Amino acid sequence: MLNFKYKNPTKIIFGKGEIAALGKEIPSDAKILLLYGGGSIKKNGVYQQVKDALINHQIEEFGGIPANPEYEVLMDALQVIKEKNITYLLAVGGGSVIDGTKYLAAAAKYDGEPWDILRNSVRTFEGQALPFSTVLTLSATGSEMNSGYVISRRATQEKLSSGGPGLFPQVSILDPEVIRSIPKNQIANGIADAYTHVMEQYMTYPTGATLQDRFAESIIQSLQEIAPKVMQDDFDYTAAGDFMWCCTMALNGLIQQGVPSDWAVHAMGHELTAYYGIDHARTLAIVAPSHYRYNLESKKEKLAQYGERVWNITEGTTEEKALKAIEKMEGFFHSLGIQTKLSEYTEDYNGTAEKVEKAFISRKMAGIGEHKKLTPADAKKIVEMSY
Ligand code: NZQ
Ligand code: ZN
Repeated sequence: MLNFKYKNPTKIIFGKGEIAALGKEIPSDAKILLLYGGGSIKKNGVYQQVKDALINHQIEEFGGIPANPEYEVLMDALQVIKEKNITYLLAVGGGSVIDGTKYLAAAAKYDGEPWDILRNSVRTFEGQALPFSTVLTLSATGSEMNSGYVISRRATQEKLSSGGPGLFPQVSILDPEVIRSIPKNQIANGIADAYTHVMEQYMTYPTGATLQDRFAESIIQSLQEIAPKVMQDDFDYTAAGDFMWCCTMALNGLIQQGVPSDWAVHAMGHELTAYYGIDHARTLAIVAPSHYRYNLESKKEKLAQYGERVWNITEGTTEEKALKAIEKMEGFFHSLGIQTKLSEYTEDYNGTAEKVEKAFISRKMAGIGEHKKLTPADAKKIVEMSY
């Protein structure tokens, strides 16, 4: 097992009716900016629950943060933070609102040009950001219990990430009732995103980290088991709770400790969102199968293990099991109604691979993946295989 240090300071409050707990969790003298997205929280009652919980607090509001949180919009929010002397941020939304809030928490206390934080991947350490909490309304990213964020800038077709130990939410409220109002395509996205988060931290090479492997496989198996229940029309509270907790556990740092991780699928996927606006999770479903096929030689032991333990594939050589396992993973994405080829999302895909290669070269991403050996030219080939 690799050496590691692990600290996750986020307090999780899980369960039905727990949004009401916010009032006691946020300091009474805080001057809060409540941040939200396109308005779903006003239709499903979450906004009212938050307002009721914070009846004795001072609150300003900023709505309109779009999916794939947009830099220009966040700059307007930053202005509000400064003008109103905001001391505490509260994100009420999915990954986009939470990520936007994290970036604002960092930018509010950053002296230089805010975009430099992303351009130069400036990390934010403890005490360097405004404090913030979250009310999660869409399970997918794990952003409610991690310290990373991803911001889009449509004008330049960039989607960049940063983070740091100063950007864990103080408190995150997870009430499975919020799942009721999520459209099925977003639930499918949530499952596929969390699934791929686990794969990025698991589908590398054998290290003998038995517990981490079993953690990862158990999250994947749980997601497969609950997927049909959360995708059906009737709301199932138990399945909704399982879904939420799977997504959080997939990317709160726990399963990543002591093991190598890949993240190349995300790196390539972010480019596809930046160029075409394809939902984050769907970009992962496009890239992952090609990535695993391209890297079969270095990943085949883990792929075969995944095939055996998760899909019960018992016949064939290591390589045959590995290839079968990739097909099974692809089949799982299809079962969620998620297409796995770029050409199924856009007709305008010619030249995408070259564009990704160029972007990686310009960002000096010389070696990605668990071995830090995948070059921009490799990324080009993988994206080409995803057409
Ligand atoms: O904007 P509103 O009105 O809230 O509607 C949202 C949005 O349209 C809607 N929604 C959310 N909760 C709902 C709901 N609709 C009805 N009922 C509810 N309860 O869902 C739509 C998508 O929301 P969004 O927040 O964009 O989705 P998601 O949580 O998938 O977040 C995606 C963003 O997170 C980043 C992605 O790159 C993308 O920008 N990621 C963040 C990560 C992290 N911080 O660790 C890791 C991930 O790999 C990912 O990169
Ligand atoms: Zn993701």
